[in-house]
Amino acid sequence: MARLVLVSNRVPIPKSRGAAAGGLAVALRDTLSPGTVWFGWSGRVMADAAKTPALVDARGVQYATIDLTAEDHRHFYSGFANSVLWPLLHFRLELLNFRREDYRGYLAVNEAFAEALAGILAPDDLVWIHDYHLIPLGKFLRKAGMRNRLGFFLHVPFVPASVLEALPVARDLLSDLCRYDVIGFQTKEHVHDFRDSAERILDARTSSGSVTTEGRVTRVFANPIGIDPPPFEKIARRAGASPEAKRLVDSLGGRALAIGVDRLDYSKGLPNRFEGIARLFGRYPEHLRKVSILQIAARSREEVDDYRQLRTELDRLAGNINGRFSDVDWTPLRYSTRAVGRATLAGYYRNARLAIVTPLRDGMNLVAKEFIAAQDERDPGVLILSRFAGAAEELKEALLVNPYDPDEIADAMHLGLLMPAEERRARHRILRSKVFRTTASAFFKHFLAALCMPEIATHGTRVDRVAL
Ligand code: ADP
Ligand code: G6P
Repeated sequence: MARLVLVSNRVPIPKSRGAAAGGLAVALRDTLSPGTVWFGWSGRVMADAAKTPALVDARGVQYATIDLTAEDHRHFYSGFANSVLWPLLHFRLELLNFRREDYRGYLAVNEAFAEALAGILAPDDLVWIHDYHLIPLGKFLRKAGMRNRLGFFLHVPFVPASVLEALPVARDLLSDLCRYDVIGFQTKEHVHDFRDSAERILDARTSSGSVTTEGRVTRVFANPIGIDPPPFEKIARRAGASPEAKRLVDSLGGRALAIGVDRLDYSKGLPNRFEGIARLFGRYPEHLRKVSILQIAARSREEVDDYRQLRTELDRLAGNINGRFSDVDWTPLRYSTRAVGRATLAGYYRNARLAIVTPLRDGMNLVAKEFIAAQDERDPGVLILSRFAGAAEELKEALLVNPYDPDEIADAMHLGLLMPAEERRARHRILRSKVFRTTASAFFKHFLAALCMPEIATHGTRVDRVAL
């Protein structure tokens, strides 16, 4: 029977240290079935990095990981993936730091991944590759003689051709994408931008569901990622009254809680959010001493300069807000850069009256979905959501804001804090039904159905049955 082989740079190996922060690892981890293989980077940087995968079995899932050398890591991860593709795909051309040696390192690591993976692939395995770190992996697998069905899912946004063209190797990456049998994107807008780029830059022929280049057809579709809501709701119900949540609630002294939870990343719009908070207290003084904001921003990619600078900037902005507005017994903004355990987080969401989710761009944003799933339906909190998060394509009953406008964030916070229970419940009912429909398992099912469809078997072998 065909196995499913997931491939991603970041692999949440069970029992590895630290809470996993990052939508890809969290969403995929929550829906694994026995028999699946997950291949990727071990998270280790080693002088003599072994290229034969180390294997760990846990609950029927096999994790196969390889190490990176410091040089690989610098060029591939910190360099091309996170200083070129990440800013580019989040519309931040001013942060793009393209160096040819980084691109060469990116290709070399993708080729090494392909060689190591080829060694453990069976001919009928279905291969599902994830995210911007591994765009050329499909090409290298084909080069290594693999005829397996190959799928790719992009967790981050895709950009319009006019933005993509700033990347000196845009053409190569687009044509690497067209080596897959299937590509999934988070939203219809990303599919549209990909098709348009393929037409303009590669001269590809496209239809609403496919892109054809050099006689090869790649199926493209929107497949929004989600969470696994029932267990998360259950955890939140329990964790909402846990000693940890109680510590937080007691410390509020009856004040409302507003919460933000993000990786500490410039795509998350944290400086603007902090400015929005300052404007809330400046323009609506009735909220002074009535609400406490908890912003948890887990440190991320600290080896990249722009991330370190952002951290310094946020320390300063948080200090300014608290210096300006706090009182002897009230701190408006509680700011922590630590990752928090999943149950603790669920308990915090459950006790929050507001969630502030205002990325400047985001592929999807799972924090928004987690917040909804964690609410008490009788007295739910209000979600403030950036219109530039993929989640906004669906979660229209949230208070949608333009994250570039701090006054709009402040207005939405004001509205959310005053929103009557009836309106909160009405919005929540619809949001909840959407979060419970577009789940991680629906995401899995749709992608695999597309990957198994016989009429798109133009690149690889046919698949009859898959172990899922
Ligand atoms: P991204 O994938 O860009 O990090 P998402 O919102 O899609 O953004 O996913 C983030 C995931 O990481 C969520 O599951 C969230 O709960 C988790 N996460 C984010 N920040 C933290 C944190 N400070 N502590 C623990 N988990 C976090
Ligand atoms: C986003 C990306 C993932 C990545 C995660 C955490 O969700 O789409 O591919 O794994 O951020 O980032 P990191 O660099 O720590 O893997």
